[in-house]
Amino acid sequence: MMAAASRNRVLAVGGRIPWHLPRDVAHFRARAAGRWLLLGRGTYEQMEGWFRPGQVPLVLTRQKGYKVPEGHAVGSVEEALARAAAARVSEVLVCGGGQVYEAALPMADEVILTTVDCEIAGEVLFPELGEEEWQRGETTVFPADAAHAWGMSIATYCRKAPPVAGKLGEPGKES
Ligand SMILES: NC(=O)c1ccc[n+]([C@@H]2O[C@H](COP(=O)([O-])OP(=O)(O)OC[C@H]3O[C@@H](n4cnc5c(N)ncnc54)[C@H](OP(=O)(O)O)[C@@H]3O)[C@@H](O)[C@H]2O)c1
Repeated sequence: MMAAASRNRVLAVGGRIPWHLPRDVAHFRARAAGRWLLLGRGTYEQMEGWFRPGQVPLVLTRQKGYKVPEGHAVGSVEEALARAAAARVSEVLVCGGGQVYEAALPMADEVILTTVDCEIAGEVLFPELGEEEWQRGETTVFPADAAHAWGMSIATYCRKAPPVAGKLGEPGKES
């Protein structure tokens, strides 16, 4: 999973990402290049025109017959993982928004999280990464500068134990 959130876990304000951080955009673009991406229908519609050849968006929606010209509509995270596994794709990158991070977290084994050095009020939150489940690894800190109104840090979190649900191609466990 990959996300950018404020210190208090806010992902969006008024339906939009509340900062412009070119370094983080470049980091996201580089990591997402050529990948299969899982997105909520809300985020997908905001990202119209963003996808490049080789990227395959898997769009989570409850709508029947929803069309995704560059990829596939899926009705669940499990269906997204099954589609990727059937195409022999070894990783799906979960790109939000809030509902999709929440739905996919139990199946995630790595989270690349940008923490923007601010606290703001917002309606869409990134789920909490409990210390008992997640280990913070490599972290890089970037101070604010002329192009970045806020400082930020980019950290990779790994699960301490395997995800409760299945990895690509494996059935999820009943809870
Ligand atoms: N800061 C960041 O890193 C970041 C990253 C991505 C997005 N965002 C922001 O996050 C906001 C959008 O997040 P959001 O939570 O409102 O929406 P979202 O997760 O992008 O999309 C929500 C939609 O996904 C579908 N959905 C959600 N859970 C589902 C499930 N369990 N099964 C099937 N379909 C499901 C539904 O689509 P239908 O209504 O079609 O059924 C739902 O309306 C935007 O403001 C965006 O800018 C921030």
